Amino acid sequence: MVKIGILGVGTVGASVARILQENADIIEARAGKKIVVKSGVVKDLSKDRGVSIKLSDDPNDVIDDPEIDIVIELMGGVDEAYTLVKKALEQKKAVVTANKALLAYHRYELQELAGDIPFMYEASTAGGIPIIGALRSGLSANHINAIQGIMNGTCNYMLTKMIHEGADYQEILKEAQDLGYAEADPTFDVGGFDASHKLLILASIAYGLDAKPEDILIEGIENITPTDVAFAKDFEYAIKLLGIAKKVGNKVELRVHPTMIPQESMLAKVDGVMNAVMVNGDCVGETMYYGPGAGGNATASAVIADIVDIVRGNSGPMLGYKKPLESGLTLLPKEEIRSHYYLRMSVDDKKGVLAEVTRLFSELDISIEAMMQKPDIDKDACVELLFVIHECEEKTIQQAIVELEKLDVIHGKVGMIRIEQ
Ligand code: NAP
Ligand code: HSE
Repeated sequence: MVKIGILGVGTVGASVARILQENADIIEARAGKKIVVKSGVVKDLSKDRGVSIKLSDDPNDVIDDPEIDIVIELMGGVDEAYTLVKKALEQKKAVVTANKALLAYHRYELQELAGDIPFMYEASTAGGIPIIGALRSGLSANHINAIQGIMNGTCNYMLTKMIHEGADYQEILKEAQDLGYAEADPTFDVGGFDASHKLLILASIAYGLDAKPEDILIEGIENITPTDVAFAKDFEYAIKLLGIAKKVGNKVELRVHPTMIPQESMLAKVDGVMNAVMVNGDCVGETMYYGPGAGGNATASAVIADIVDIVRGNSGPMLGYKKPLESGLTLLPKEEIRSHYYLRMSVDDKKGVLAEVTRLFSELDISIEAMMQKPDIDKDACVELLFVIHECEEKTIQQAIVELEKLDVIHGKVGMIRIEQ
C-alpha cells in the first residue's frame, strides 16, 4: 500500500481524494498497489470538503509523517509551496504538484533538489490534457520547432461566452470562479500570467530554456472591446488567448497574448473551458492535444496519473532530460518578436485625421494591410479607425502606439491585438 498526503484539499485536492476512493479498483489495477490518502491539509478546518479524510491545518503534519510516501501539493502560491515541497524532497518523499506558479519560478531549483526522487506535475499545464507526458516522453525523438496553444481554461471560457453570447465580462468571470476554473486570484488568469507560467514549463521541457514570467511578453484579455469582437467576426477571425513558443534560428520567442486567428483554424474551434496545445516536432510534424483545461475532476485525473506513474516506477527525470538539451538556445528579446497587428483608435471625425495617422505609419515604415472606419458609439463627433498592419517588429508597433497616443486627434488608448495567420 502507498500512502499519500494532500497539501490543500480545495477544488482539485477534494477531487483527488474522492476519485482515489471512487475509482480505487481501476487505479490499483494500473498502479499495482493500493493508493490511500492518509491525511490532508487546509486553512479552514470548519469548512465541509465533501471527503472523508483526516484533515489538519498544519502542513508539517503531512510533510513530517514518516508513513506518507508521496506529498501532493495543491495549495497554490509560490513561496510557502516552495518551502514545503523542498522540505518534502529533503525527506526523500516523492512530490506531485499542479502548481504552475511554483514551477514558473522554481522549476530548475526543484529539478536539482529532486535528483532521482520522483517529481511530477502533469496537472500544472492544460488541466486534464497529458501534454507534459507528451513532451517529456512521447515526443522525445524530436527537436521542437513550435508550441502554440490555448492554455487557460478561464480565459477561453470567458472569451467564448463574451464572443458567442455577448456575456458581461464580470458576470462570466464570476461564473468561471464558481465552476472552480479560476485561480485564487483571478487576475492571474485574465492577465495572462497563468498561461505564461504554463508556457514557461513547456519551454523548459522542449528547449531547456530558463526564463521567468518577467522576461517574456504577457498580455491578458482585459482590454478586448465589443468593437474588437465585431471586427474579428467581420474579418473571419476568432480571438483566443494563446501561449506561443517558437524557435527562430538559435533563439526562442515566448509570448502570451490575445490573438486573432483564422476562424477555420483548429485552435479557433476550441471553445469553453477546453484547452488545446499544438506541438510541431522535426520528426513527427504537427501534433495537437485537446481536452478540459481546468476544473476539479479533470485536473485530479492528471494528478492521479502522476501518482500512478510514481507507484509504477515510471517517473523519469523531472524536465525530461538527463543531459542539457540543444546548446546555445536563448530567449528572443520581446522587442524583436514579429507579428501582424490589429490596431483600434478613436479619432476626431474631421478631414485630415486619416492622413495624419497614415503619415505616422509611413514615417515608422509600417505598412497597412487593411483599414476600416466605424462610428464611435461611446464618443460624439468621433469615429473608430481600425487597421490591420503587415508583419513588423514588436518595438515598431509599440513606438507607433506611443506616437499615436500623443496626437491631439486621437482620444484615449490605442487598442492592439496581434494576428497569427
Ligand atoms: P483552491 O480551491 O483554492 O484550494 C487550495 C487549498 O489549499 C484549499 O483547501 C486551502 O485551504 C489550502 N491552503 C492554501 N494555503 C494553505 C496553507 N497555508 N495552509 C493550509 N492549507 C492551505 O485551489 P485549487 O483550484 O484546488 O488549485 C490548487 C492548485 O492547483 C493551484 O496551484 C492551482 O493553480 C492548481 N490548478 C488548479 C486547477 C483548477 O482547475 N482549479 C487546474 C490546474 C491546476 P482552505 O480551503 O481552507 O482555504
Ligand atoms: N485557472 C487555470 C485555468 C486552472 O483557468 O486554466 C487550470 O490550470
